[in-house]
Amino acid sequence: MFLNNTFANDKPKFFGRRKGRTIRKAKSTLLESFLPSIKINEDTELKAETLFKREVKEICLEIGFGNGEHLAGQALKHPENGYIGAEVFQNGVANLLTLITGIKEGSNIPETISLLPERVDNIRIYDDDIRLLFKRMPNAFLDKIYLLFPDPWPKKKHASRRFINQENLKELARILKPNGILRIATDHKIYKAWTLRQMHECSDFEWTATCGNDWKREPQDWVQTKYQRKALKEGRRPVFLDYKRK
Ligand SMILES: C[S@@+](CC[C@H](N)C(=O)[O-])C[C@H]1O[C@@H](n2cnc3c(N)ncnc32)[C@H](O)[C@@H]1O
Repeated sequence: MFLNNTFANDKPKFFGRRKGRTIRKAKSTLLESFLPSIKINEDTELKAETLFKREVKEICLEIGFGNGEHLAGQALKHPENGYIGAEVFQNGVANLLTLITGIKEGSNIPETISLLPERVDNIRIYDDDIRLLFKRMPNAFLDKIYLLFPDPWPKKKHASRRFINQENLKELARILKPNGILRIATDHKIYKAWTLRQMHECSDFEWTATCGNDWKREPQDWVQTKYQRKALKEGRRPVFLDYKRK
């Protein structure tokens, strides 16, 4: 579902799904009534203090957060940081809202929806193609970028749709701070080989691994994702590739 960089009418061409199964009542209400309070709009200023209404230690971006487990988990573990999550798939966005508000199907929906008491207001959501937001991000804006289990587009004829490509890497390098980390996880053999080659060709990043265990084991602060669980169940072992912005 990761997108290629072919632009049509100034908009990147989209190959994934924006909507899946019918979104039921609680999640629709969350999308309508709660999402606007944490959503990045066309006129949102991309500045830490404006975005999070306070100073944050690090700004981290997760691209294609899926059901949002990793994003919500990181934000809970690190209240001192600010998190931007980008996801095109509406059902995924709705799922993240359930995780952070606790409002599930069948719950009583209060008039004013708020975050669960243990949460800090440190997540902002961009519910569109992240490449549209890249353009608005200042240089060296981010401390970390997570790209977890992107769709591998395994067929050769679809290779240009893979999110890791030189064009996107150039933008990722621009918006990351020096020494900032780009973390990529994949369970797919073809995507792993592709990523290693693309990263090797990009002079802006340096692989941090010093031995096999560094990339075959989950990083310390890891939170499992839906696609990771699916891979493990089907017998595929993920790799976790950390690259430092030079
Ligand atoms: C294979 S899923 C992985 C989801 C999640 N990271 C996980 O590990 O469970 C890839 C996700 O990336 C999203 N996606 C693809 N291209 C995107 C883009 N350009 N901007 C934002 N989200 C994107 C898709 O909608 C999809 O939910």
